[in-house]
Amino acid sequence: MSISKPLPHDAAKLHVTGQARYVDDVPMPATTLHLAFGVSTIACGKITAIDLAKVKSAKGVKAVLVADDLPFANDVSPSVHDEPMLSDGSIHYLGQPVFLVIADTHLNARHAARLGDITYAEDTPILTIEDALAADARFEDGPRIYTKGDVDSALSSAPNRLQGRLEMGGQEHFYLEGQAALALPQEGGDMVVQSSTQHPTEIQHKVAEALGVAMHCVRVEIRRMGGGFGGKESQGNALAVSCAVAAALTGSPCKMRYDRDDDMMITGKRHDFRIEYDVGYDNDGRLAGVDFTHYTRCGWAQDLSLPVADRAMLHADNAYLLPTTRITSHRLKTNMQSATAFRGFGGPQGMLGIERVMDHIAHALGKDAADVRRINYYAAAEETTDASGGSFSGQVKPGRGTRFASAHSPDTKADNTTPYDMPVTDFILHEITEKLLGDADYAARKKAVADWNATHATLKKGIAFSPVKFGISFTLTHLNQAGALVHVYADGSIHLNHGGTEMGQGLFQKVAQVAAARFGVGIDAVKITATDTGKVPNTSATAASSGTDLNGMAVQNACDIIRNRIAECLAELHQVKPDAITFQGDQVSVGTRTLTFAEAAKTAYENRVSLSATGFYKTPDVAWDRIAGKGRPFFYFAYGAAISEVVIDTNTGENRILRVDVLHDAGASLNPALDIGQIEGGFVQGAGWLTTEELVWDDKGNLRTHAPSTYKIPACSDRPDIFNVALWDGENRAETVYRSKAVGEPPFMLGISAHAALADAVAACGATYPDLQAPATAEEVLRAVKRARA
Ligand code: MTE
Ligand code: MOS
Repeated sequence: MSISKPLPHDAAKLHVTGQARYVDDVPMPATTLHLAFGVSTIACGKITAIDLAKVKSAKGVKAVLVADDLPFANDVSPSVHDEPMLSDGSIHYLGQPVFLVIADTHLNARHAARLGDITYAEDTPILTIEDALAADARFEDGPRIYTKGDVDSALSSAPNRLQGRLEMGGQEHFYLEGQAALALPQEGGDMVVQSSTQHPTEIQHKVAEALGVAMHCVRVEIRRMGGGFGGKESQGNALAVSCAVAAALTGSPCKMRYDRDDDMMITGKRHDFRIEYDVGYDNDGRLAGVDFTHYTRCGWAQDLSLPVADRAMLHADNAYLLPTTRITSHRLKTNMQSATAFRGFGGPQGMLGIERVMDHIAHALGKDAADVRRINYYAAAEETTDASGGSFSGQVKPGRGTRFASAHSPDTKADNTTPYDMPVTDFILHEITEKLLGDADYAARKKAVADWNATHATLKKGIAFSPVKFGISFTLTHLNQAGALVHVYADGSIHLNHGGTEMGQGLFQKVAQVAAARFGVGIDAVKITATDTGKVPNTSATAASSGTDLNGMAVQNACDIIRNRIAECLAELHQVKPDAITFQGDQVSVGTRTLTFAEAAKTAYENRVSLSATGFYKTPDVAWDRIAGKGRPFFYFAYGAAISEVVIDTNTGENRILRVDVLHDAGASLNPALDIGQIEGGFVQGAGWLTTEELVWDDKGNLRTHAPSTYKIPACSDRPDIFNVALWDGENRAETVYRSKAVGEPPFMLGISAHAALADAVAACGATYPDLQAPATAEEVLRAVKRARA
């Protein structure tokens, strides 16, 4: 059976031999035109004059469009129609598209785009959190606030109290394949669009709006992306709409791809955050109350900022029971690129806040930070009582791991709920933690680090443990649905299609494994095909890590419909009961007879049985009121934990990650090789966010780090020297596809352990709490060393 096999990525050979086709590789007619944006050079103001004569007369230019030339909607927002594709006369950030060049080649378009003569009346941009608060520039009337219990009295009556503040930077997606789209005009005004997008239906919707046609006039296709990481949920709209509009106006195919610098200047990134905390706790480090304030810079347009900021609030607890809390979230409007989805979708930022609190408390009490974390964990699944007060058992299968009989579990059986009122009933971090601390030899290594630090003045080491609990489901409930389309041909070969998109994460292979398993055939019998709005309609973005959960179930549904039809047909022909027919090992057993799967398909076809079916799935049991901040936004939680060990040079701030141990919960893994790949990649990307990746805007709002020369993503050599990744051996308690768990985003937050380990190393330099900010670049590590020594 194909389930749970460590099969390679379906396109691995195509990737490494350069045959894998991305949008820019699709063969195009020789008449194809190429597009580029002319962008603003100020961050805030009005256009007073615009002279495009030089652009129009530049080599190879066919046409130049400004906002007034657009036939219909000038909007590429995924949410509230606040994002003109071309400036409507006002400028909101430096890099904002103002005009669109249509030329014969990519380079000619880019050259001409530099020749615009634009005169501005400049205003003072709103750039910092302070600027935005002073101007009350925000996306909702006021801050959003979630509360649980009476945090003020909990804080004032707690035996200990501390406050702190953590700044964390944003992050550039740095997908290897930049944003790209192309449009092929069809007869009668129809349009076919190829787009490097996580959300083909959104592209279809925005293109239809811009062309003033119904959605059925537009078909969007995407075989794969060279990485998306959330940056292609909405930020591809501008390119696809540009291509479609230009193709409609010129009658020629049109293509657009951003050069790396343009991509970094134009598109949104991860939201940066400031988190302030006020915490009350007892002498063991057990929390009494936490008051968090989140400030996030959302950039100029709303995009997905509200759900991102919501998810940060929803992960402010991470793995810990907050007996009382208030979480206040300010969504600030600034004159910068419009911040957008990025792996974790705000979760990492929210989680880093409480992880910092754990470290701060441990430092204040002189305790091991891993112990402070464990004492604050939610109660383990088996100890939990459900909302009605009954003991939690039911449909749940016990995990295969041995349960950590915890003396530390909070003695609060009645309260095991999140700040948003959802009972935590699947908590397995006690067991995961116990196993990881043991396997990675945490206690002995902690002692070795202390010994090293006692005898070394310049190089200091640090070690830290951090857990992850990540909520799985879209918080916008209606997005939790998926469709599939499966055909079985008369030769027994299978054509597979569903609403998910492939961005390197291995979704297509996992879902193909599900299809192969339902029909009992080998993986080679299943043809994986490009995502296509003409095959499966009304899809959600491939996001929130739920690609496999949703599309895997929809595919299972479609396959089972066809399989049952074949079984019924054979049952009637051979006078056996349909449920006596089995599909296994490329064969179909019918009573005493055995047919190959191909023979079975041919027989069904000749008996006029439909061998094509659509499948559908919607996640059960989710309901969420985002205004009240109450409900059950998640179907289940995914868990994981990591231990990082680092070394810093206290003279220069330079640092290395020496060793990382991860134990991660992917449920009953559909494909351990792909899941481990997601965990390794997620960890490295998370550690990159918190260490070397630094975005710098100057006081004019100009992003100065817009290329790999100034923006440092982790390279192969930055990978931990020792990197042990293991999968937790247990099934999902929720009824997901083959009891697997979503794995795309949760491991990203394991990178927090690298930041915490750096903070631990810095803390070895002196007695003062070093308050390491993020990203912990060499400069920031050096500053923190000085603070610790002060
Ligand atoms: N892995 C690779 N290789 N490339 C990507 O772009 N995106 C991540 C994650 N893993 C990404 C990736 C993000 S942001 C999400 S939401 C999930 O994959 C989406 O895919 P899934 O739902 O199939 O896990
Ligand atoms: Mo992922 S940030 O949900 O695309």
